[in-house]
Amino acid sequence: MNPDLNNILLEAKSLQKTFKTGEEDLVVLHDLHLQIHKNEFLAVTGESGSGKSTLLHLLGCLDHPTSGQILYLGRDLAQTNGEELNRIRNCEFGFVFQFHHLLPEFNALENVMLPGMIAGLPARDLREKARSLLTDLGLGHRLSHKPSRLSGGEQQRTAVARSMINSPAILFMDEPTGNLDPASSDELIALIRKQQQNRHLTIVIVTHNQSIARNADRHLQLQDGNLKPGVVE
Ligand SMILES: Nc1ncnc2c1ncn2[C@@H]1O[C@H](COP(=O)(O)OP(=O)(O)O)[C@@H](O)[C@H]1O
Ligand SMILES: [Mg+2]
Repeated sequence: MNPDLNNILLEAKSLQKTFKTGEEDLVVLHDLHLQIHKNEFLAVTGESGSGKSTLLHLLGCLDHPTSGQILYLGRDLAQTNGEELNRIRNCEFGFVFQFHHLLPEFNALENVMLPGMIAGLPARDLREKARSLLTDLGLGHRLSHKPSRLSGGEQQRTAVARSMINSPAILFMDEPTGNLDPASSDELIALIRKQQQNRHLTIVIVTHNQSIARNADRHLQLQDGNLKPGVVE
């Protein structure tokens, strides 16, 4: 499915993020504007330290901007009460990070079910959905494996399945292939892309990985605190 250009899911307006480090202020993002459309697969690249993770954390409401706004479906998230904000973060947003953060004592199926359990959904439905997600991600034969018995690529695919269990509207991914070899990385990207299209997901990936940028609907580059059109190397 192509991005729905009339439909803005998430918008950043005049975003600024400054970290106070000792005497000096470090301005990481400055007057940054971004509109993310429904069903869009957006890749943001940038050098190490350019502010990719900072931007993703602000968009996903894991951190607060110094100034500026984040609007989700037109609603200013800074004006949204804590309980509702938690619901949005847990159910409408999904996250995948460079490190999978799977719980070692649970198997793949249970790890995927967990955010649904936290959201209070019935275990039987979650079990079916987790099974279906893991199968779609090529892990139907690994449901009862604990993370230590999965390869790096399989662990990360489990983390992707977990990020989708609550049927989020938007997925935020921070260097999801950062720990993978090139073959596992390409495989993960292809699977993510397929799920994005089948499930009509909106995905924002921040990454060093140029092959993700090449596969995206749109590619932006973070430089000097701001976004510009991306150039694939
Ligand atoms: N909590 C923090 N306190 C102070 N400085 C930070 C903090 N988080 C990030 N930074 C700094 O902000 C800049 C951008 O960091 P980051 O967003 O992690 O970059 P990237 O993900 O592109 O590598 C870096 O210079 C980093 O050192
Ligand atoms: Mg980072």
